[in-house]
Formats: sequence, structure tokens, C-alpha cells
Amino acid sequence: MGKRRLYIRTFGCQMNVHDSEQLAAILAREGYEGTDRPEEADLIVVNTCSIREKAAQKVYSELGRFRRLKSRSPGLRIAVGGCLAQQRGRELLAVAPHVDLVFGTHQLASVPKLLSHCEPDGGPVLETAFCDRIESLAILAPPLPGAVSAYVTIMQGCDNFCAYCVVPHLRGREQSRPGQEILAEIRSLAESGIREVTLLGQNVNSYGAGTPGGLDFPGLIREIGQVEGIERIRFTTSHPKDLSADLIRCFREVDSLCEHIHLPVQAGSNRVLARMNRGYTREAYLDSVQRLRNDCPDISITSDMIVGFPGETEADFRETLDLMEKIRFDNLFSFKYSPREGTAALTMKEPVAEEVRSERLKILQALQDSHTQERNRLSIGRVEEILVEGVSRTSSRHLTGRTRGNKIVNFAGEERLIGRTVRCRIAQAFLHSLRGELQLPEA
Ligand code: 5AD
Ligand code: SF4
Repeated sequence: MGKRRLYIRTFGCQMNVHDSEQLAAILAREGYEGTDRPEEADLIVVNTCSIREKAAQKVYSELGRFRRLKSRSPGLRIAVGGCLAQQRGRELLAVAPHVDLVFGTHQLASVPKLLSHCEPDGGPVLETAFCDRIESLAILAPPLPGAVSAYVTIMQGCDNFCAYCVVPHLRGREQSRPGQEILAEIRSLAESGIREVTLLGQNVNSYGAGTPGGLDFPGLIREIGQVEGIERIRFTTSHPKDLSADLIRCFREVDSLCEHIHLPVQAGSNRVLARMNRGYTREAYLDSVQRLRNDCPDISITSDMIVGFPGETEADFRETLDLMEKIRFDNLFSFKYSPREGTAALTMKEPVAEEVRSERLKILQALQDSHTQERNRLSIGRVEEILVEGVSRTSSRHLTGRTRGNKIVNFAGEERLIGRTVRCRIAQAFLHSLRGELQLPEA
């Protein structure tokens, strides 16, 4: 039998992007090869996100588009996985009867078996059970030729139950992977040419909490710091309540740990933080930022913020803006609060009106843009180390890469530099990127 073609459409976070890569590797063993044209696929997988209602709506409209493809080629299989599948499995099958398989967040490794249960005239298959040990966290696919950067899942799930968040309900409890398994994987990535690893988890700071005597997160970073060939270590996401003094020390002590931390704060008012069940105060957060900057003055700090959480007053919102003024984040991902099924905030009183949420988001984003510009301009004149990722999207004569602080830099250079670490003097700063000049010698 010839190769079957697989098209994967991914919504949502880096975790989902990585899950899709894993699934592509699992299905490659079953004879599927990837295509970027859904109309020629034998199997379409939609990997969904449910973090905000907008993400969920996008999934429904995409499924509508695939319904037309299926009516033209009845042999096409459509599978839906990820957070929305976990949350609304039955409802998805009811509104999208052309879907053959719905699989949950713990089911990646079972997808081939589940697909084999999809008979041409049988009903759809639904499997969203949680498992004690998720088999698919280890990297299954060798990196693509020329790739320099890879994700490594170190843990999955979340135990924090922030009042607005569906993740703990949809990805289950925290599970850390054994340190030795992670290290073996990173060594093999380094041997295949990977120079940068991004450690993934909902709350990487509590890595190892369930396995006393094993490595904790700073311990894991120190070990990865010894792996030959790995020039850069990144991680995401951190919870401010679990940011330890030892992790802060790692920024100074581990050469390959990049000077960037994504530390979602979510709100600047203590009243809102308490209602969100975040487990820290604004003062504690400000103190963490200070300690990070004392130890590592050039560190980039990025964050997530939610506006219009139930009960957020004008005064609370001003506290958020004030916190931003004090910190001046390098970048901020900001969202209007979106009510989610099954979360504690859903039934909270004093919802904030949609117009107020939109207005607050606009004000907050304008302030952040000015801070991003200001922080980016601080780089002008500096020589930064850039890991070259590829050709720039806007001009084929330009290359693109990132600084250790995770800022995008475009610069004129030849393609042979892709995958290398070069030095660039930063000449110009924009909102979303920097422009650099290649320094000689190149590496
Ligand atoms: N509404 C709005 N934003 C949310 N996030 C998580 N849940 C919600 C919600 N219900 C945001 C948080 C989190 C990021 C990944 O998404 O800021 O850090
Ligand atoms: Fe959601 Fe909070 Fe867990 Fe992050 S830490 S995944 S926001 S519950």
C-alpha cells in the first residue's frame, strides 16, 4: 500500500505544537507522511485549544471547512485531539458528525490503535480517559535536517487550579518525567545537531516535586548545562510562587541558560490575585523581579496578563498598569478574561462588561507597546549573540535569529550561517524585532 497523507492543523500553545510534532512521528511509523494541503490528505488531525472561547470558536469553524472536504472524498478520516476534545468530546461529535475520532490529551500514543477502530460504517470513536503515566512525552521524531532548536517536554499537567484556567481540568495532574530520560534525550538531540532546547511544562518550577530524591528544576538545568553541544537552554512556563533562589542563581552559574524568563503575573492587584488563587502578592512578584535583575541585570522578563477578571474594579486595573510601569516587561501577552466551563471563576459574581474588558485591553496594550519599544531600544549599539534560525520572512537576503534574551534579530547574511551562532551589533529597534549588523569574524 502506498503512503497515506496526513494533514495536522494545530491551535494554541507551544505544548500543542510539540504534541502535533509527536503525533506526526507516531503516525509516520504507521506509514503516514505529512502534507500541508488538507485537500490531498487521507487523515486530517485537528489539535485543539480551549484556553479561551475565541480559540474554541476557531476550531469549530475549521471543522466546518473540513466537512466540505469529507463530502467530496468519503474515505477521508478526521480526528480531533487536544484540550477542546478533552473538554467537549461528545458535544464535538454532535455538532460535527463528520468527525471519525475524538481523542483526549493523554491519548496521543493510542491514536493508531483508536484509528484502527474507526470502521468505514461504524460510529465515531471517542477516548478521553486520563492515564497515570503518559507514554508520549519522550521525543519520538528525530529533528528535521538543519533544525537547531527543539522542544523537550519535562512535565505535563498542572496542580495549581487558578480560578480562570481550564488546563488542570483538561491536562490532568502534574507528572514529571524522570531526569535521566530527559538528559538522554537531550544528549541525543545534541548529537543530531540541536543547539538550543526549550524545556516545556505548565509549571516547570515545580519539576520533580512528586519524586523526592530526584532532580529538582535547578538541578535539571545544571545537568543540561553540562551536555556538550547544547549552547542554549530555555524554559516555559514558570509560576511566580515557585520561583526559587536556586533557580535565580542558575542564570548566573549556568552559561548556557539564556537570560530570559516568562513569568506570568496575570494581574497587578492583590485583591484580584487572591480571587484568581495565584498564591502570591504584587509585592512578592515585584521582589522576584528585583532579585532576578540583581543577579542578572540584562535578563528579559515577559509575562501574561488577564484584564476584566470578575470583580476587577477600575482601581484594580490601575494597580495592574502601575505594576507594568514599575517593571517594564520586555513583552506581554494580554487577554480579556474568558469564562471557562468547570473553572471556579465561572460562578463568581460581578462580571466585567465586554466593552469594559475591551477598553482595558486596549489601554494596557498601548502601554505595553511603549515599554516593548523602550526595552528594545536599550539593545541599540550592543553586540548580541544570535543563534541563526533561517532566512528572514521579509527578505531572502536577510537571516533571522534570536538573542539570548529571546528578541528576534534580522540581519544581512549568507544562508550558510543558518544553525551557527554569530554576533550582531544592534542598529535599529522596532516593536516586534531588532535589526542587526553581522560582526566579523562571524563566529
Ligand atoms: N481567560 C483569559 N485568559 C486566560 N488565560 C488562561 N485562562 C484564561 C481565561 N479563562 C491566559 C493566562 C495564561 C495564558 C496561557 O492564557 O494569562 O497564562
Ligand atoms: Fe492554568 Fe494556573 Fe496551571 Fe498556568 S498555573 S496552567 S494558569 S492553572
